[in-house]
Amino acid sequence: MTYKVGIVGTGAIGWRIIKEMDEHKDFEVAGFAKSSTGGRFKQLVSKYPFYVSKNINMEKYSFDDMLIRLKSRKADFDKNNPSGHLIDLLLEVDIIFDATPGKMGIKNKLLYEHEILNQKREEIGLKPLKVIYQGGESPEVAESSFIANPCYDKVSNESLNQRVVSCNTTGMGRPLYSLLQNKNIPDIDRAYNTLVRRSIDPSSKKGSFIDAFKAEANSHHGHDLNTIYPNLKIGTTAFAVPMSHFHGHSLTVLFKDNIESEDVEELLRKDSRIAVINPPGLFSGDLFEISRQFWNQDSFVVAAQVKKMCDFDDSLEILLAVPQESIVIPETIDCANALLTNKSKKQSMDTTNDLLEIPVIKQQLEYELTP
Ligand SMILES: NC(=O)c1ccc[n+]([C@@H]2O[C@H](COP(=O)([O-])OP(=O)(O)OC[C@H]3O[C@@H](n4cnc5c(N)ncnc54)[C@H](OP(=O)(O)O)[C@@H]3O)[C@@H](O)[C@H]2O)c1
Repeated sequence: MTYKVGIVGTGAIGWRIIKEMDEHKDFEVAGFAKSSTGGRFKQLVSKYPFYVSKNINMEKYSFDDMLIRLKSRKADFDKNNPSGHLIDLLLEVDIIFDATPGKMGIKNKLLYEHEILNQKREEIGLKPLKVIYQGGESPEVAESSFIANPCYDKVSNESLNQRVVSCNTTGMGRPLYSLLQNKNIPDIDRAYNTLVRRSIDPSSKKGSFIDAFKAEANSHHGHDLNTIYPNLKIGTTAFAVPMSHFHGHSLTVLFKDNIESEDVEELLRKDSRIAVINPPGLFSGDLFEISRQFWNQDSFVVAAQVKKMCDFDDSLEILLAVPQESIVIPETIDCANALLTNKSKKQSMDTTNDLLEIPVIKQQLEYELTP
C-alpha cells in the first residue's frame, strides 16, 4: 500500500522530507503547501503539486471563513498554477508533515483536527488525518514526542499525531538510549550537557551576531529530553555561537558505578545512527567536509567521541556533533511508519537507513575520523 503525504512548510526541514518521501516506495508526495513563492518554490513547483497556504488562526475564524480566505488567497497565486489550497491538500492525503516555523504547527493543529475537515474526509472515504509536527513546537502539540529507538514501539496505528523532537534533543537522545537500555553497564545517576549551538541556519537571511555568544542556563533541551526519558536526571546549558553548521555537545554522564569508556564506545558503535569517532581533537569542519561527499552534505548520524571525565572512574564525557537539519529526517520517516504501517521498529529503521544511505555515511565517518 502507498500512503499519500502532504508537506506544509518547505524550509530547511520540509524540503528534505519531500525529497526523501519522493524516493520512498511506500509513500507518494501528493503536494506541498506554503504561503509565499520564496525559498525553494520554483524548484519544488516544477516537480510537485502546490497548494496555497496562509497563516492560520482558527481561534479567530470559522471553518467556512477559513475556506473563503484560502480560496481568495489561491486567486493571488493563480499565475503559479496552484493545484488548490491547504484544505484541498488536507482532503487528499493520509498524513501531513507540518514543517512550518516553530509555534505555527499548534495553530495549524486546529485546522488539521477540525470536526468539519474530518467529516469531509469521512465522506470521501478517508481516515482521520495523521500529522507529524517538528521540534519547534511545544510537546503539548502531539500525543507524544518521538525518537525512533525509544519511542517506535509505543506508537500504534491508532495514534493520530506525534512530534519529532528537535535536532539537539535527538542528538542527545540517541546515545542515551544505548546507555539507558543496556543492562551490562552501570545505571546512569545523572547527566549534564553543555550545548554549543549554531545561532542561525545556513539559509537564513535574518542575520546573526558575529562576535558574541548567547548563553542560557537550565535550557529547554534537558526538559525536552524528559519527554522521551521522563526518569532521567539531566541538566543542560546552551551557548549559541556564530556558526551555522553543526551543534556541538559536551554530554557528561555520571554512572552509579565505575565505567570503562571502551565499553561505552563499543555500545554506541552498535547503534546504526551513531558514528563513533576518535580524532585527536573533534573539529566540526572535518565532519562538514566529509559530509560533503554525500547528497546535500547531510549526514543524518550523530558523531560521538567518548572520553573518561578527568580521573573520575564513574563518569564519562561524550562529545557529540549534531548535523542540525538532517538528524531529524530519519526519525520523521520512522515516525510516519509507526503511525501508518505495520512495519516493526527494525524493519522501519533498516529501510530508512538504506534509503538515506546511513550505513555508508557512518562507515565513512568512523573510518576517516579514527586514527
Ligand atoms: N532548521 C533546523 O535545523 C531544524 C532542525 C530540527 C527541527 N527543526 C524544526 O522544524 C520546523 C521547521 O523549521 P525550519 O527550520 O525548516 O523552518 P524554515 O526553514 O523557516 O521553513 C519554514 C517553512 O514554512 C513555510 N511557511 C510559513 N508559514 C506558512 C504557512 N502559514 N503555511 C504553510 N507554510 C508556511 C515557509 O515558507 P513560506 O513563508 O513561503 O510559507 C517555509 O517554507 C520547526 O519546528 C523547527 O524548530 C528545524
